Amino acid sequence: MKKHLPLLFFLIFPIIAFGQWTQSLSYYADKCNIKIGTAVGGVFYNNYDTGNAYDLTVKNNFNILVAENEMKWDAMEPSNNSFNFTKADQLTAYAFRTGKQVRGHNLCWHSQLPSWISNGLTNGIANGTFTRTTLMSILKNHITTIMTRYIGKVQQWDVLNEPFNDSGGTLRNSIWQQVIGNDYIDSVFVWAHRADPTAKLYLNDYGVEFSGGTKADAMYNYVSGMKSRNIPITGVGLQCHFTVSGNFNVSGLDANLKRYNALGLEAIITELEVKILKTDYTANSTLQLSNQAECYRRLIRLCLDNPNCKTFMTWGFTDLYSWIPGFTPAYDYSLLFDTNYAPKPAYFSILNELAVESQKTGLNDINDADIVKIQKLDNRIVVNSDNRIARCQLFDVQGKCLFVSESHSSTIEIPSNNLQQAIYILKLRMENGKIIVKKF
Ligand code: XIL
Repeated sequence: MKKHLPLLFFLIFPIIAFGQWTQSLSYYADKCNIKIGTAVGGVFYNNYDTGNAYDLTVKNNFNILVAENEMKWDAMEPSNNSFNFTKADQLTAYAFRTGKQVRGHNLCWHSQLPSWISNGLTNGIANGTFTRTTLMSILKNHITTIMTRYIGKVQQWDVLNEPFNDSGGTLRNSIWQQVIGNDYIDSVFVWAHRADPTAKLYLNDYGVEFSGGTKADAMYNYVSGMKSRNIPITGVGLQCHFTVSGNFNVSGLDANLKRYNALGLEAIITELEVKILKTDYTANSTLQLSNQAECYRRLIRLCLDNPNCKTFMTWGFTDLYSWIPGFTPAYDYSLLFDTNYAPKPAYFSILNELAVESQKTGLNDINDADIVKIQKLDNRIVVNSDNRIARCQLFDVQGKCLFVSESHSSTIEIPSNNLQQAIYILKLRMENGKIIVKKF
C-alpha cells in the first residue's frame, strides 16, 4: 500500500486542489438562466488565479463580473485620447477563461472623471473649456475606443450612469448635460450601439427602484421617450443600494420591473447590497442577518419571477472589502460573505431560491453528442472533443463542484477513484462560447 501512496496522492490531489467543496451560486444560476454577479475592486488584481479564498469565492459563485472602479473614465482615459486598458484587459481575460460574462461600468458619468475633463467646470458651472462639438467628439471617442476593444468580451455596458438628480425628477446638470445639452443621452446610446451592436446597453441609476417614487417615475418616463424615439437601449440598471430595515418596497420594485417589461425593456439589479446599522448589528446580529437574508431572498425571487430581470449583481461579495463603511460609516455587513469569506444566511437564502427554481427549469442535457465523448474508465473520466474546451467542471447533484480545469485543451482527464457511484453533472464551456451540460 505504502508504495502506492504517491500515486494515490497524485490522483486525488487535483480534485482537492481544484475542488470547490462549497456550494456554488452560479451552478444553480446557470440552470435558471440568470446571471449572478459581483463587483470586484482593486484587490481582485492581486488575488486572481492564486487559488486563495478571494479567488475561489469569485470563481465558484458568480457568472458575471463588473469592475468596481477600474473601468471608469478616470481609470481608462486619464488624459485626452490616452487609454489605459491594463486592468480591463485582465478582468475580461479572467472572465473569458473562467466562463463568466462582464458588465462594463461605465462609459458616461458625472463622477470619477479625470481632471482634464472636470476642469471644464468651475464651482459646478461650465466654464467654456469645451464647446458642444469638442465635448461630443471626446465622449464619442471614449465610448467607441473602449467598446470596440471589448467586443465579445463585455456583454453588458452601463452606457450612462446616474443622469438624474436625487429629487425633483430632473436631469443632473453634469458637464455633459450643460455643454452638450439633454440630447447627450440619446447620443451616447447611438454611439455605443454603433461601436458594438451585439452588446446590451443600459441606463443605470440609484433611488429609481420603486414605482411611484419621483425619481423612479422620471427615469421611467425618460426611458419610455427614448424607446419611442427608437434609441437603442436594452434596459435599465437599478442599483439597489438598500438598507435592511429601511427603504425596501417589494411591491414597488415588482411594479417597476413589470412596467419596463411592458415597454420591452430589461430592468436588472446592478449594485445590490443590504446594509445594516452597526448599532443594530451589535445589539442582535442573528436577527439582523436573518432579516438581511429575507431581503436578499425576496429580491432574487423577484428576479426569478420577472422575465426581464435576469441579471442580479451585488456591489462586492465579502464584508472584508465593501465601500459601505467608508461611504456611510454608521453601516456595514451588507454583502453575502463575512470578513472570513464564510457564506452568511443571505448567501444561503439566495442559493436556496435558485436551487428551488432550478428544479422547475430542469437541466438541459447534452444535445450535440458528437461534439463531446465521455469515457468512464476505472480511475478516471476522459472527456474528448473535436473543439477545445475552455473550462471543464464536474458537479454532484447537490451542486458541489468537485473538479475544475481551465486548461484549454481538447482532452481532459478527471481523476475519479474517490468518486462514489452516483449521478454527476459535467459542464463544459467550449472556446467558441458554447456551453454543454451532460448528466451521467
Ligand atoms: C463606488 C465604489 O464602490 C467606490 O470604491 C468609489 O470610491 C466610489 O464609487 N454607484 C455607482 C458605483 O455607480 O460606481 C459606485 O462605486 C457606487 C454607487
